[in-house]
Amino acid sequence: MSATQTSATVTPLDVWRVREDFPILARTVCGHNLIYLDNAASSQKPSRVIEALDLYYRTFHANVHRGAHELSVQATDAYETARAKVATFVGAAEPAEIIFVRGTTEGINLVAGSWGPQNVMEGDEIVLTVMEHHSNLVPWQLLAARTGAVLRFVDIGEDGRLAIGEYDRLLNERTRLVAVTHVSNTLGVINPVADIARMAHEVGALCLVDGAQAVPHMAVDVGELGCDFYAFSGHKMCGPTGVGALWSRRSILEGMPPYQGGGEMISEVRLDGSSWASVPHKFEAGTPSIGDAVGFGEATDYLAELGFEAIQAYERDLVEYASRRLLELKGLELFGPHEERTGVLSFRFWDIHPHDLATILDQKGIAIRAGHHCNQPLMHRLGVDALARASLYLYNTRDEIDALVEGLHAAARIFGIG
Ligand code: ALA
Repeated sequence: MSATQTSATVTPLDVWRVREDFPILARTVCGHNLIYLDNAASSQKPSRVIEALDLYYRTFHANVHRGAHELSVQATDAYETARAKVATFVGAAEPAEIIFVRGTTEGINLVAGSWGPQNVMEGDEIVLTVMEHHSNLVPWQLLAARTGAVLRFVDIGEDGRLAIGEYDRLLNERTRLVAVTHVSNTLGVINPVADIARMAHEVGALCLVDGAQAVPHMAVDVGELGCDFYAFSGHKMCGPTGVGALWSRRSILEGMPPYQGGGEMISEVRLDGSSWASVPHKFEAGTPSIGDAVGFGEATDYLAELGFEAIQAYERDLVEYASRRLLELKGLELFGPHEERTGVLSFRFWDIHPHDLATILDQKGIAIRAGHHCNQPLMHRLGVDALARASLYLYNTRDEIDALVEGLHAAARIFGIG
């Protein structure tokens, strides 16, 4: 099947229809129609997610799992329904395998803070990659400092893909955990996480996957991936900020100690000690972000209704178009593989600083990210301090890519280049 084709039963994505779902796309910036190309940082929100939040706060807000009154029952029901939706979205065996957290970062910190000290001892090894976002690196540095564990890093090859042969050589009987991103937020590379998890298991290690850049763009089934932990955020996949999920198998979660103490995570509290609630509540101390969880569940419905086959086919075509148009520009260097990638397009353009590029584009209503993308070690590996990044999503169009290219031509003219 070619990039633009979808199977006969799939309704192709109608981007102009989809755009109507996102009210923010109607606004202007600096007198130009907004062209939002910073989706890897955070996506925009469809009306139905905004309305779900609005409805929750207007009509049934109360605290969950605590009150006997009607509002609390409704809020609890909506919160737990959202958990079930998120579980279905990633193929979890049951809703209890989903722990609501603030986002990917907190999900990874939960594993590092709870599973980590229990399972990682001095001299044990944790295998990471040089392309990890700071959120899948710093928590392991903290754990290593606390336990005396050693961090090992898988390098990348010329095209930005992981050096899998090197990964194989790094694994040994001291490896306790492999923590890897599903999709790189700088290179757009899709890592072979099912193979990575299988190889980790062969030496008795567990595998954690940072799914933040994957779940907005592709169907994820944690059972098929065979990993042990999968962390992701709501706000990159049309949901609200402040909510995300950590998935793990019940058997693993039951063996882990609590991450934070407080209300809601206990079974019984005495002055001389406490016992814990069952999973997932053991890991959800305090009042959760209830409204955001409800909006997160609505976002899963939205994406599921559009269908990932249609979303992926549309995005694949757009990414191919964008890569081709960008590579036509003299002086432009695109990082990461040129094929089989997601729409995270990091680039250098002549020697114009990425912050200058972002500012010039912003004057034309075009939002991109510039900087180290929370990926400083990868920037060092690539020999750059910063990159410009256009990151695409299901509501972006070829016209917007053309405007980006025009904007880059204008930047070159301002700097008297090309
Ligand atoms: N992780 C987000 C990004 O890549 C913030 O921009």
